[in-house]
Amino acid sequence: MSTAAVLASAAKLQHAWAGRQPQVAVLLGSGWSGMVQGLQDTRDVPYTELPAFPPLGIAGHAACVRLARLPKPPGAPGADVDVMVLMGRQHAYETGDATAMRGAVQTAAAVGCRTIVVTNAAGSLHSPWPAGSLMALSDHLNLVQRSPLQGLSGSDRFVDMGQAYDAELRQRAVQAAARLGVVLHEGVYAWMMGPQFETPAEIRMLQRLGADAVGMSTVPETIAARHAGLRVLAISLMTNMAAGLAAERLSHEQTLKAAALHEQQAARVLQAILHSIVD
Ligand code: HPA
Repeated sequence: MSTAAVLASAAKLQHAWAGRQPQVAVLLGSGWSGMVQGLQDTRDVPYTELPAFPPLGIAGHAACVRLARLPKPPGAPGADVDVMVLMGRQHAYETGDATAMRGAVQTAAAVGCRTIVVTNAAGSLHSPWPAGSLMALSDHLNLVQRSPLQGLSGSDRFVDMGQAYDAELRQRAVQAAARLGVVLHEGVYAWMMGPQFETPAEIRMLQRLGADAVGMSTVPETIAARHAGLRVLAISLMTNMAAGLAAERLSHEQTLKAAALHEQQAARVLQAILHSIVD
């Protein structure tokens, strides 16, 4: 995505926002859109009006940037916060292109966000973490071995991934969830290209490699975000036990159904987390 497209997208958003300045961007995956329901003072700009953003085709995903004001929880310190919500992603499996969300992530940085919270639906590799469990990514396995930075030039493409997922943000997120009585686990996410689900043998391999969750997104966006200088917090909502770990047949419909079942809790936790990470 060209710099001109990112700057044009940023200018369009800033015009629509009329001086409001979010510090945090949130990319909503399956099961997370409950977070934006019922919020006041929203401004929507469709991805189709933002040249750095991809077209979206997948059921269950909206396609707009929503500036939303999160009301401060009753009794909590601080103020209401504006967040830039990216409602939907293009996945690398749709086109084979791992750069799909790079321009969107760069636009979040260009409008002044310093942090991005990336959410997804994932399969669990741990039986104590059934569907509905939440996991903050402590690290990832890029088994796909693709990067959104492929094709770029310049020495800044050699991004340090030693602390890709920000430990301080994660700690605040774990504490915010705990205050709601919800356990936010921490673990390693393995990116698989999909769109097919994994085989049981692949899941056994991932377990041996140290993965705790498996999914088809988030890693390219995290790499793009680190390249853009954003701090990253990423959270998985487990929608199923991974292949071979439970009797159920995996399907996209099953993912969406499980995501919908846990959407309200995920939304509540995400809102609390957002408050806790904005200074
Ligand atoms: N595998 C990959 N991606 C997923 C899964 C899974 O089991 N569940 C939700 N997204």
